[in-house]
Amino acid sequence: MAPETLAYDVIIIGAGGAGLRAAIAAADAGARVAVLSKSLLGKAHTVMAEGGIAASLGHLDPYDSWDTHFYDTMKSGHFLNHWRMVEIYAKEAPERVLELETWGAVFDRTEDGKIMQRPFGAHSFRRLAHVGDRTGKELLRTLEDRILATGSVDIYPEVICTRLFQDDSGRVAGVFATCRDDGRFVVFRAKAVILATGGWGRMYRTTSNSWESTGDGAAMAWRIGAELMDMEMVQFHPTGMVWPPGVRGILVTEGVRGEGGLLFNSEGERFMLRYDPERKELSSRDVVARSIFQEVMAGRGTPHGGAWLDIRHKGPAYIKRKLPGMYEQFLKLADVDITKERFEVAPTVHYTMGGIRVDPETGATNVPGLFACGETAAGLHGANRLGGNSLGDLLVFGRRAGLAAARFASEHDWPRLADGAVRDEQRRVLAPFDVEAGENPFAVHEALQDLMATHAGIMRSGSDLRAGLDRLQALKERAARMAARGPLAFNAGWSLIFDVQNMLTLAEAILVGALHREESRGAHWRTDFPEELPASARYNLVQTLGPEGIAVRREPVPPMPPELARLFDHDAAPGVLRARAAAKERAGA
Ligand code: FUM
Repeated sequence: MAPETLAYDVIIIGAGGAGLRAAIAAADAGARVAVLSKSLLGKAHTVMAEGGIAASLGHLDPYDSWDTHFYDTMKSGHFLNHWRMVEIYAKEAPERVLELETWGAVFDRTEDGKIMQRPFGAHSFRRLAHVGDRTGKELLRTLEDRILATGSVDIYPEVICTRLFQDDSGRVAGVFATCRDDGRFVVFRAKAVILATGGWGRMYRTTSNSWESTGDGAAMAWRIGAELMDMEMVQFHPTGMVWPPGVRGILVTEGVRGEGGLLFNSEGERFMLRYDPERKELSSRDVVARSIFQEVMAGRGTPHGGAWLDIRHKGPAYIKRKLPGMYEQFLKLADVDITKERFEVAPTVHYTMGGIRVDPETGATNVPGLFACGETAAGLHGANRLGGNSLGDLLVFGRRAGLAAARFASEHDWPRLADGAVRDEQRRVLAPFDVEAGENPFAVHEALQDLMATHAGIMRSGSDLRAGLDRLQALKERAARMAARGPLAFNAGWSLIFDVQNMLTLAEAILVGALHREESRGAHWRTDFPEELPASARYNLVQTLGPEGIAVRREPVPPMPPELARLFDHDAAPGVLRARAAAKERAGA
């Protein structure tokens, strides 16, 4: 049966914070907009950013401002970030947070009624606007309410997208989708498409990511000519749950350390004093994750291979008020009362800094009509993302992508789908039902997770990565024979086949990127290249996919204009100066 065809000015794939914020912006700009959501509305992985939205509101620390936030973000990203994206982010995040408040987000408050802000790793000031430890959830709820109240956007829940279409000129023309609830196929034609599909943490065994995070947008975009950048940069959040095994990887918010939680090894040593005496538990994520990893490797780990996190000294009332989600999570999932007991944590794959290369102002990719925002886009976070910069990223760059896509749609006619493209894709997605004695997609997924944990974990080496690539080639051969059985509706095995195809595609880009980056920088730790290259040698690693396979090129990181570069002259560093000033003030108070 021929698929149904629907047409919109702007199609947004992904219903997390970036997708919903983009939808609001595009609809406000007058576009006919649809959002295609892989799961039900409100279930997107955005809920997993629990601790807050980083924005220099200065409610608690008046010395904070956009330039200190810029400074912290560039430094923590080890200068691989695109400076212009960071500048835009640092300048626009406060406005986006205040706007969220006017749309009904119920933030925690200071005594004088302002939005409360908490400290977080490697932020020089208390900067994270938060709602207890459920900030991502509140952000999503607020955006959903806004969309549903205005009725300006069509939402399609439980839709799996498998292929982006192009016209003869290469411009994006729409997407092929299967609907999970009834198995029907739909072609969504569009003048512009925004990818807001999040990251790809599910290719790892231990991850905080939800089942949706399989890199669908990035993989589909790469197949039609979009560029990927810095794919080797995978963030291990220092604190995921460890025990019992069924919950391993679930996020333990950095908010626990932000609210005073301390890390100890099995010998009772507060080891972060050794690794980063100044910032301690609130060092950047790459440093804390590596420190826990090294303690475990040195035989000083907890019974199940992690570190102890202890917040008991803050008292039960405070813990239950500021970290209600953590209190419940540990009680219900691990039978641990965190007001009375310390608990085990270990690094978990949380975020992918690399992704689709975009224009810093608009989120436009190099494929005409195709935009990307949020985690699936690269550039803002460099080699290591600061906690809280993800939720702000969604708001700032979701809005910008929405506006730019709406403008693109208003300036262009309808693209024509290339002949036969729909028929070919329908045939491709149904092909697994014809495979006899094929591979089980769940088994192939498990093998991929094992491969990535073994060959592209926190610690990497050239020989590990090369062996990983060999294993990946063999796995790709198995994956080519993945089989499906049963109905088209709610067929988890069948839809996993597309997820696995996407994850295999991006796993290869991670392994190739990690092999090509011959240095250690941020989240990328090469034991055979332990040093960071000097500033003059900094580069972004750009990958393209062509008929000959993957092509990799090094591109020098775009240079900062002098007025921004000057901020990193040590004496002029705004964060350093203001932090010192604030400390002096406190000491004198
Ligand atoms: O730890 C957390 O609450 C995560 C926040 C983030 O990834 O931004």
